[in-house]
Amino acid sequence: MQRHLSRTILLLLLAPPPAALAAGTAAPPVAQACLGCHGPAGGGAGAVPAIAGRDAGELRALLHAFRSGERPATIMDRIMRGYDEAELGIMAEHFAGAR
Ligand code: HEC
Repeated sequence: MQRHLSRTILLLLLAPPPAALAAGTAAPPVAQACLGCHGPAGGGAGAVPAIAGRDAGELRALLHAFRSGERPATIMDRIMRGYDEAELGIMAEHFAGAR
């Protein structure tokens, strides 16, 4: 019994804290800049559209269109000009998997 109990305690100590579990879904640094406007999880905020849970290819195409100026925007065109190709991919993948 004693032995069983200490094993249970050991397992509890080894279990990752909830914050560590959530880290898998935390926004990568490059996507952190988006959260202030698009909501803490990219779910949209006020007039700013939701970007979480959408198709990664669609998101990437939107980001590209902003960067090239092809898609008219009030702010996203200027923001996207600051990022490279790899970063657009990271953002698209992250928000596609975010909820
Ligand atoms: C200053 C606020 C602000 C920030 C920061 C911001 N956005 Fe936006 N985003 C907007 C607004 C406003 C729109 C609507 C288009 C426009 O007017 O520019 C938008 C539109 C979008 C859209 C198109 C959604 C649709 O359905 O048309 C995507 C995708 C997007 N943002 C992704 C991002 C990503 C990724 C980041 C982080 C690099 C980001 N945004 C940072 C304000 C912001």
